[in-house]
This record gives sequence, structure tokens and C-alpha cells, in this order.
Amino acid sequence: MPHQVLVAYATRFGSTAETAQFVAETLRDRGFTVECRPASEIASLDSYEAVVLAAALYMGKLHREARHFLETHQESLRTMPVALLVPGPIETREKDWHSAHQQLEKQLARYPWLKPIACQVVGGTFDPKRLGFPWKIIPALHKAPVADARDWNAIRDWAAALAGTLQDASMERGSPAVSR
Ligand SMILES: Cc1cc2nc3c(=O)[nH]c(=O)nc-3n(C[C@H](O)[C@H](O)[C@H](O)COP(=O)(O)O)c2cc1C
Repeated sequence: MPHQVLVAYATRFGSTAETAQFVAETLRDRGFTVECRPASEIASLDSYEAVVLAAALYMGKLHREARHFLETHQESLRTMPVALLVPGPIETREKDWHSAHQQLEKQLARYPWLKPIACQVVGGTFDPKRLGFPWKIIPALHKAPVADARDWNAIRDWAAALAGTLQDASMERGSPAVSR
């Protein structure tokens, strides 16, 4: 299927999937054909023109399934527009955001071939009830309050700007990504 965008997500507790669905919906509103699926389910990128990878930060690293996705599909990803959306900080504290940006920079240094057309750290969520083993036995975590730092307006603005960038990238490649 031509002109198809894949929004692939790597999630542990589900919030990155919700954020990815929201981005997918915003791109659809702008005329793109979008599939939104777990990164772990993707066997081939042959039918996609562009990829948005949504991958939460865990212990300073991108979610394991996102790292696996980047490694597995490296050859295809080298030649297509790729955007990264990275949920992390669960509060608005400046130092958490600074640290998330540093973590992402360090992770991206592992993939020097990856040249994202857009890359954004966004707020994440936390709910101690969703914790599985071994996290739920760590007192500091299971006593921590519920938090949701997602700024839906900012995420929508990012996705809308990405739609423009994807359209431009596609025109340069000689095929309009959206038929108007
Ligand atoms: C055990 C654990 C470790 C985390 N480590 C980081 C981290 O190193 N950096 C960061 O910015 N956010 C970190 N977070 C916040 C997550 O990225 C955030 O909760 C995100 O929304 C989780 O996405 P998910 O619901 O899709 O799994 C951590 C969260 C948990 C529960």
C-alpha cells in the first residue's frame, strides 16, 4: 500500500501506546494513511513510506522492543523518513526533562546511521498499580503517586508539524504523501 505511515510503539504500561494512537489519529486527520502497531509485531517495513517510533525511556534506555526494532529494521530505516517520540518524564521538573534529553542523546549515539526527521521527548505517566515484578516490590516506586505529564496540545502540535515535514520529504522523493 503506497504512502502508508507506520506508528510503531514500545510500551510497558500502555501510556506510550495511547500517545502513539493519538499521533496516528492526528496524522490521519491530515490525510495520511496510518497503521499504529506494537513495534514487536512488525516483521517488515516494505509497505511503509515513513515510520514514527514511539518508545518510552526506562532506566536511561529506550524500551527494549524499540532498540530491537531499530536493530532489526536498520537497512530499511536508513532510507526512509523516521521520527522518534520518546515519553519519559512523569513530572514537570526541569531536571527530569534535562535528564531525559541526555538519556535520549546517549541512546541515539548508539545508532549513528539514524537521522530522524523529528525527535521529541514528551511527558509520560506513572501509576503504581500498573507496576509488575520486580518494580512493585521497590517501596519508592509502589508508594509513589499517580502522575501524568502528557501535554496533549504539545503532542498534537508536534504531530501536526511532523505531517508537514513528511509531506515535504515525500514531495522531494517525487510522490505526494497525501492526495488532496
Ligand atoms: C521503572 C521505571 C523506570 C523509568 N525510567 C525512566 C528513565 O530512566 N527516564 C525517564 O525519562 N523516564 C523513566 N520512566 C518513566 C517512563 O518512561 C514513563 O512512565 C512512561 O510513560 C512509561 O511508558 P509506558 O506506560 O508506555 O510503559 C521510568 C518509569 C518506570 C516505571
